[in-house]
This record gives sequence, structure tokens and C-alpha cells, in this order.
Amino acid sequence: MSLKIGDKIILTIHDLAFGGEGVGRVDDFVVFIPFVITGETVEAEITEVKKNFARAKLLRVVTPAPERVTPECKYFGACGGCQYQHLDYAAQLRVKQKQIADLFERVGKISRAVVAPVIPCPVPYGYRNRIMIRSQWNGPAKKLEIGFIRTDNKFVEDITECKIAEPALNEQILHVRAHPPPKGGIKVVLRVQPENWEVPPDSFFQNNFFLLPKLVATVREFLAAGGARHLIDLYCGVGFFGIEAAAVVDSFVGVEYDKLAIAAARKNAAAREIHNGEFIAAQVENILPELLKKFSPEKTAVILDPPRKGCWPETLELLRQHRPAQVIYVSCHPATMARDLNIMCADGVFELARVQPLDMFPQTQHVECVADLRRRN
Ligand SMILES: C[S@@+](CC[C@H](N)C(=O)[O-])C[C@H]1O[C@@H](n2cnc3c(N)ncnc32)[C@H](O)[C@@H]1O
Repeated sequence: MSLKIGDKIILTIHDLAFGGEGVGRVDDFVVFIPFVITGETVEAEITEVKKNFARAKLLRVVTPAPERVTPECKYFGACGGCQYQHLDYAAQLRVKQKQIADLFERVGKISRAVVAPVIPCPVPYGYRNRIMIRSQWNGPAKKLEIGFIRTDNKFVEDITECKIAEPALNEQILHVRAHPPPKGGIKVVLRVQPENWEVPPDSFFQNNFFLLPKLVATVREFLAAGGARHLIDLYCGVGFFGIEAAAVVDSFVGVEYDKLAIAAARKNAAAREIHNGEFIAAQVENILPELLKKFSPEKTAVILDPPRKGCWPETLELLRQHRPAQVIYVSCHPATMARDLNIMCADGVFELARVQPLDMFPQTQHVECVADLRRRN
């Protein structure tokens, strides 16, 4: 059967791919459908046909899965922010664990046995401390839309609340709506400042305060198990991991190219009377060659917490040559992480001891992972 746009089909979902789309088949031809659950039979309408797969929109759930729940948000399905509100929270965690294990096996050539169960967020709604809302002029309706990019990726869904954002941000959304931007095309970042951390307005801080203790505990546990005495905290932002792990090592150094974040990192360390660390404002790829020479590799651990695009190949190659005892790789983008872990482990230079996923982003396709890489002797 050759599918065409507009065709209505009934099919059974046999997996949820990374990114949240369900995978079904029509005569062996793969069809991706959002907002479904493995095991469900659904009716869908084809919206796009490519050489090897098609996409469809969900029309009706014929046989619902037992994990199906009512989404809390009235914009779910139209707003592009969340993919999993229709799935009960325990099932979201299982789905994410399987997706990471599948991805690491396929892209990273990594045994799925190293991927631990996902640590849940104690607050699966109302957790986000930073959101970006956009304005867009809707010509036909003659009105300014204020909200998030829609699932279709083209338009802005006009919203008055966001169920995954902290309550304080929902108040800020109403304030923006009461004092709207003068035109379309404007982005407004809304943020709740963390307690006891200095963070400049444009600098990075972790998005979910509720799961931070578990994230810190995971990094500390990996570091303590590795036994390194020196820590190089790369992409350190306002010094978060270096400062939180300072007591586990004799000395640490943080590197970050955002100069204001580095100034804040120094203040954050001083405020805690932490004196065994220093912070350097530099590009990781420029400073790393001379930095690695300062520490003996067998006593050194490196934290990598790069932006979503992952690490530069040169940075990974340098780490492979220098071979520090441990590399702890933190990432909110499992696909680039799997690629980088594969490079690190090639030819048996490093070995992946464990991957700990943490659900820093409930209801969405995203998930944070911490990987413990050990140098092989
Ligand atoms: C995911 S954030 C991690 C921040 C920090 N580890 C934390 O937990 O708060 C990535 C950081 O890397 C910084 N960054 C991105 N590219 C960089 C580069 N080439 N050299 C140095 N820092 C970089 C960004 O400014 C950002 O602060």
C-alpha cells in the first residue's frame, strides 16, 4: 500500500522514539505519530510522506494504553513544549530509560546495561525556573500572540499559563501579557533566581531546582568513587559543579567563556568560604592543552557539561591523549552525548562505568544524563 497525504489509517504503536513520536507500521512502512503510547491502536491521518517513512497526526485513540492519563495543560498537543503529558509519570520514566539505552547502544556502541533507571523529579509539574516566551503578529486574526512555538514549528501558541513552569513564572507571564511587547518577533526570558547563587541575567543555571540535590549527589558520588584529587570543571557556568564538589577533592579549576558567569563563580565560592578552587574565563578548547599539563592524569577528574551541541572533537581527542583517570560527562542532549561517548571509548581508551539519567524535564522529551568514564589501563 503506498501512502499519501490525507490518507486515514488505523495502526498499532510498537515503540516511542526519542523525541516522543510513536512508531507504527503500515505494511512494513514506518509511520511516526505524536501523542500516542506503545501498545495503543490509533486512527491517524498522514501529513507527510518521505522515501522511508511517513508522519501522521492522531485523530482518535481506538484502544488506549493503561498508562494514558488526562493532560493537565489545555494547550497540550498544540504547544510544542511538552510531548508526554498524556503518559503517566512512572511510564514517562520507563520510556526515557529505554530511549537512552536504545540510543546509546545504536549511536554510542555502548552496552545498555550501564544505563541506570531514571531518577524522578519530585515535582513533575510546576518545576521549570526559566522559560522563553515569544511574540508573533497574527495578521489574519489581527492580534499579537504571546507564548511558545507550536508543535507545527511555525506559529506561536498564545498562552496564559504554563503548567510545567514554576508558579512565579506564571505570574510573570500574566505581567508580560498585561504589558505586551510592541510587535512580533520578540523573545522574553522569564526566570526565578536560585537562592544562594549569584547568576547574571544572561548566564546559565540548571533549569529545575527540585532535582538539583540529586544531580549534585550523582556527580559527587561518581567523583568520590573515582578517587581523583584534582578536578577540572569544564563549561562551569557560575561554578556550580566545582563548588558543589569542592569538598571531595584537594583542588579544582573551573573554565567558562562567559566572563560575567566567571565573576559570579568567584563570588559564589567566596560566599561559601571555598578556597581550594580557581575560575578561568576562557574557551575550553583554547585553555585545555595548558591546563591538562598542570595536573598528573592519574589523580585528575574532568567534568564536561557542554552546551547541547556537545564537545569539540579536538577537546575529546586531547582528553584521549592526556587520559585523566576519570571524565564525568553531564548532558541534557543524549544524542550528542552518545556521539561523544563513542569517541571517548574508541580503541578502549576510556570505559563507560555507568550512566545515570535524571528527569530534569518531566512531561517533555528531554532528559539529563551523567556518565562516569574511567580511563583503561
Ligand atoms: C550546559 S551549561 C553548564 C553550566 C554549568 N556546568 C552548570 O551546571 O551550571 C554550558 C556552559 O558552557 C558555556 N560554554 C559554551 N561553549 C563554551 C566554550 N567553548 N568554552 C567555554 N565555555 C563554553 C556556556 O556559556 C554555559 O555556561
